[in-house]
Amino acid sequence: MKNPFLVKGYISSEYFCNRKIETDKIISAIENRRDLTLISPRKMGKTGLIYHVLNQNLIKEKYYSVYCDIYQTGKLSEFVTVFGNAVINQLEKTPDKMLKKIKRFFSGLTPSFSFNPITFQAEIDFKIVNHREAENTLQQIFVLIKNSKKPVVIAFDEFQQITGYPEKNTEALLRTHIQQLINARSIFSGSSKHLLSAMFSDYNRPFYQSTQLLTLPKINKNDYSGFISEKFSAAKRTIDEKAVSHILNITRTHTYYVQYLCNRLYESRIKKIDKEVVDKILLNILYENEGYYFTYRNLLTTQQFSLLKAIGKEDGVAQPSSKDFILKYGLGTTSTINSAIKSLLLKDLIFKEGDKYMVYDVFFSLWLKLLS
Ligand SMILES: Nc1ncnc2c1ncn2[C@@H]1O[C@H](COP(=O)(O)OP(=O)(O)O)[C@@H](O)[C@H]1O
Ligand SMILES: [Mg+2]
Repeated sequence: MKNPFLVKGYISSEYFCNRKIETDKIISAIENRRDLTLISPRKMGKTGLIYHVLNQNLIKEKYYSVYCDIYQTGKLSEFVTVFGNAVINQLEKTPDKMLKKIKRFFSGLTPSFSFNPITFQAEIDFKIVNHREAENTLQQIFVLIKNSKKPVVIAFDEFQQITGYPEKNTEALLRTHIQQLINARSIFSGSSKHLLSAMFSDYNRPFYQSTQLLTLPKINKNDYSGFISEKFSAAKRTIDEKAVSHILNITRTHTYYVQYLCNRLYESRIKKIDKEVVDKILLNILYENEGYYFTYRNLLTTQQFSLLKAIGKEDGVAQPSSKDFILKYGLGTTSTINSAIKSLLLKDLIFKEGDKYMVYDVFFSLWLKLLS
């Protein structure tokens, strides 16, 4: 039996827990011609959900879908290359037609064209050398979409990246193009909450209130419990109820961490899984990761690390500058704490969940708890 707990990528609904409400919401937005923004902390399941939506029969039948992950892009020309490749690979399935189209549409450029033998995808290097060419090529890509035979769903994953491009007009440029597309709906997805929400909710920004906002919550505990028990019993193994709820508690039901812990439990081949087994496997994971955690520690000041450790030990803190908390962990003054909080937030080592500051990485948080 293959391990049913994925820790990367999307295969099919068989390996995907729930997300019915969110899937329906996104499909409804698509069907009703609304653009949508999907936000959540990292590793909560945005990318998985996008793939899940694009994999639904209704979407596959009625639309072309273009998925582009722009995490690796740092400037407009790179965006255009990733986006252009995603569009061309989706809209033209045969290499001949693809080539023809490229020649016709990108006549001003001399793009080079190759096939990746591993992904079976065409790879186009547009050879963009300046800003004008980037803008022109972008324009051509949108014309291609406009001429598509079917309506198009475009997913821009890690969309907050564009705020870091040196071309400060990128937001306005994309907004103008996207606004004019009658036959396409866009999904903007990203993790960096402040960056992405600012883009869509500041009234002086181009994308202001242009999309429906969907904040991806945690997966419902009951549904996740059912999913986990089912996968083990399908492999003729048992996991008791307490063990399952223990998994969901210690991982805060943060999707990736649930998946990872279950993946390692599944790998262990242990037939009867109880709470003790979960703790044993968890400990293995934490020790394995220790190298990373020491690196984090070396990147922080003593003050920042002490605060991080205290937040981990408390499983989240609402008021880090309160007297009790400072005294309990010997943390110094209110003002040093405030500046440490700021820099931990900036480094994405902590984030705010509800009214509490939490250590972002769940396993790191659990490791901090083990420290004296
Ligand atoms: N509904 C789900 N059921 C099972 N596994 C999921 C689900 N959603 C996401 N995952 C898995 O969780 C991990 C993190 O999800 P991902 O979509 O990459 O998060 P994000 O894009 O928010 O950072 C991935 O390994 C993915 O396969
Ligand atoms: Mg993602």
